[in-house]
Amino acid sequence: MIFKDHPIAIGGDHASPSLKKNLQEYFPEIRWIDIGPFDDEKVDYPIMAKKVTDEIIEGRCKSGILICGTGIGVNIAANKRKGIRAAVAHDLFSAQMAREHNDAQILCLGARVIEKEKAREIVRVWLTTEFSKEARHQKRIDLITEIEKGN
Ligand code: RB5
Repeated sequence: MIFKDHPIAIGGDHASPSLKKNLQEYFPEIRWIDIGPFDDEKVDYPIMAKKVTDEIIEGRCKSGILICGTGIGVNIAANKRKGIRAAVAHDLFSAQMAREHNDAQILCLGARVIEKEKAREIVRVWLTTEFSKEARHQKRIDLITEIEKGN
């Protein structure tokens, strides 16, 4: 696991608790920082995306998992934060590319889109795939950073 030395933040909206719990149980070797929710109360996904990205931006985590119904809302919100690269991946190839090419720190999942078994496979691929560090991919990430700077 590439993140074995680092905790992983996990959180989502009211669609997330069951999948969130399942992932934590399936990967007990991971030090999870669970930012909630802890019950079925409605919680707006941008608030939770902010909390998970805060964990990364403030240096407590290097990566995180965000879950909502589709993965889309948390993804849009997370990508508004400077320095954050979040990817929705509902298949193994996308999960691999999100790490290898995009160096995504955040994996976004749709609890109402995929089965738990599939989500666990996706998380495993995402966790075990390193950024390729190839110059062409680094250049593209640097170009994203330039966009963030308003250039
Ligand atoms: C909440 O019902 C739903 O809109 C949310 O979980 C998410 O899918 C939004 O993108």
